[in-house]
Amino acid sequence: MSDPVHVQVVLEGPVLRIVIDRPAKKNALTLAMYTAMAEALEQAAANADLRAVLFTSSSGAFTAGNDLGDFLKVPPTSGDTPVVRFLRALMACPLPVVAAVDGAAVGVGVTMLLHCDLVVATDRARFSMPFTKLGLVPEAASSFLLPALVGRQRASAWLLLGQPFDAAEALAAGLVGRVVAPDQLAAVTDGLLAELAALPPQAMRQTKQLIGDGTRAATQAAFDRELGIFVERLRSPETFAAITAFMTKR
Ligand code: COA
Repeated sequence: MSDPVHVQVVLEGPVLRIVIDRPAKKNALTLAMYTAMAEALEQAAANADLRAVLFTSSSGAFTAGNDLGDFLKVPPTSGDTPVVRFLRALMACPLPVVAAVDGAAVGVGVTMLLHCDLVVATDRARFSMPFTKLGLVPEAASSFLLPALVGRQRASAWLLLGQPFDAAEALAAGLVGRVVAPDQLAAVTDGLLAELAALPPQAMRQTKQLIGDGTRAATQAAFDRELGIFVERLRSPETFAAITAFMTKR
């Protein structure tokens, strides 16, 4: 029997809910999980009846980022990988995407938020992009989008130093749009999804397109630049040592 995929994709009326569901591993993302999320987004893009997409997670963490074991076992050698397919599908998604962030959001768990339209976090959400600590470089166009969003100083603290930050700082920086108590998260995101679903769908899609248009070319160029270096870094001794240390709890 193959491993369960640990992503639930639930169609609820006009909303597609994507639930990251691997709580025993803090919702770290495996290749199969990226593929499931990419397929869900690709199908959503082709479904004229859908109005919005939600990313959420089972309790405990939003996601601890890429499965570190996978980085060692099956490092990507090109752009043709499940994580890249997922990120490209997210960047291309014509529907508004809402993210509900509770607990830890690490690595791609943060960079994917740069491609979501409305991000709600709980007051216990904790964010970090420890790429350099792992011998890696930023991904998902975050080296371009993050300084533009939060300013060079804060982006450097988060990306160069891998400094973690809390929900209040994420809100002040504009990475998230709203911070709520954990028991309010579902109600607040459901409210946003209902609002989005009730608005005229073509205007919604066109507005999202327009919001992205100004930075689309530069975002894609940054994405490709980062990817080339990221793939090389994954084969570096620095990365091997850092990931092995985490996996063996050194
Ligand atoms: N890949 C694979 N396994 C992971 C993981 C990841 N990214 N993140 C957590 N896990 C696993 C741990 O190895 C542990 O497994 P075990 O119970 O079999 O030993 C389990 O999930 C729980 O993690 P733990 O570290 O004990 O939980 P915590 O609450 O103390 O800390 C995090 C949570 C997310 C802060 C911490 O797990 C962490 O820093 N993870 C690595 C994040 C990372 O570097 N991601 C890649 C970014 S590019």
